[in-house]
Amino acid sequence: MKALLTALMLCAGVASAQEFTTLKGHGGPIMDIAVSRSGQVATASFDNSVGLWDGAVPQWLEGHEAAVNAVVHWGCGPDGTGCGVFSAGDDFAVRSLGGPDPRVLGRHKGKVTDLALSPGGGLLASASWDGTIGLWSLSGTPSAHLDAPGGVNAVAFESPSRLYAGTSNGVLMRYDLTKAEALPVVQHGFGINELVVTGDWIAYGAVDGGTRIIDQDGAEIADFTLDRRPILALAYHAETHQLAVGDGEGYIMIIDTANWRIARDFRATRRGPVWALAFSPDGAVIWAGGLDDVAYGWPVALLDAFEPGIDGQRSFLRAADTMPNGERQFMRKCSICHALTPGPSRKAGPTLYGVFGRRAGSLPGYSYSQTLQSADFTWSDATIDALFDQGPDHYIPGSKMPMQVIAGANDRADLIAFLKQATTANRQE
Ligand code: HEC
Repeated sequence: MKALLTALMLCAGVASAQEFTTLKGHGGPIMDIAVSRSGQVATASFDNSVGLWDGAVPQWLEGHEAAVNAVVHWGCGPDGTGCGVFSAGDDFAVRSLGGPDPRVLGRHKGKVTDLALSPGGGLLASASWDGTIGLWSLSGTPSAHLDAPGGVNAVAFESPSRLYAGTSNGVLMRYDLTKAEALPVVQHGFGINELVVTGDWIAYGAVDGGTRIIDQDGAEIADFTLDRRPILALAYHAETHQLAVGDGEGYIMIIDTANWRIARDFRATRRGPVWALAFSPDGAVIWAGGLDDVAYGWPVALLDAFEPGIDGQRSFLRAADTMPNGERQFMRKCSICHALTPGPSRKAGPTLYGVFGRRAGSLPGYSYSQTLQSADFTWSDATIDALFDQGPDHYIPGSKMPMQVIAGANDRADLIAFLKQATTANRQE
């Protein structure tokens, strides 16, 4: 029986590069995922537990008295056993679970939202809504708390002595531990939920959908903000220079950080949030978790490739303020689903090439909703203006196009002017 079980577990094994995998067993949403260097997946759940997955049957790590929001691996014993994690959650506790020494490292006065291990592993940082960052020494020196200007949603180390934190009132803070210095780097205005920090750049994701890459002084490197909010998960794989972004609408976007282009973009779940993201050790699989109690392993190579909206040269990298408003509207709100060039495209929507004067729902080869197929009007300045004044759900009820209103009449006019020149053959480059 034992041999059979082992064989089954091996077959069910953790994802190889080409398979789609689901990890089932949690009794609540998955709030965070961490992957160890050996590929072991740790899932933190609303069901108060952490699952450690080497196959289809996890080891359950219990101890928290409320939802677990954050998990990081601390490693394994020399023989590969005794693997454990640090975890934290709605019970205000920071714990080590599994391994030879499960214990409570300490407690906050509010829920704990994120954890980060310093490079080298000497220090664990915890982000809490009590307005502090806990610093838990793993080498014997006393623990400490850093004050933040608001509840803390995210924390990440740049080096053993420098860390960044994102707060619920939209401040990105930098802490220099040797100089005991705290500096606000960015005032985003909306809560910062997620952070990735490397030696070269900082990526943050915010409640308003803001997805920005900045340098250490807060200067913008790139802006990937779309009309999707909030940003709930970020994951980075340095060797393959992939940055994954998960949002409240169920999308996962993968950015190539070598050239700051969107490499892939896909709808991971039909309904609702992507709370958790983590790459496999080789960067070939992205693990994602959300509302439906299951962690998914998606082979990155099988995800929808993203085609740049206008031509290979243009991208979101161009500073938003150097782009004319109409183009910016298109890049942010439409380009993810619509091409502007003739011919078939793999995007969710039909190409908008030649859309002015085209009868609605009439592009050959595109599979429209029933609503658009039987529509009896032509796309013009006036009809496209009405489409986004009222929103597709009111203007063409039953359409596959997502709800979206562009409130500003100027923004709509600029968008239409841009579309007019960008969707015709003799457009100016
Ligand atoms: C998340 C994807 C998505 C986004 C974002 C999106 N669209 Fe669409 N759009 C679609 C889909 C899907 C359809 C086809 C709808 C159907 O068949 O009901 C469509 C249809 C259309 C059509 C009708 C085309 C035709 O041939 O009948 C127009 C015009 C259009 N979109 C314009 C826009 C503009 C302008 C924006 C940005 C402000 C935008 N869309 C944003 C997915 C999207």
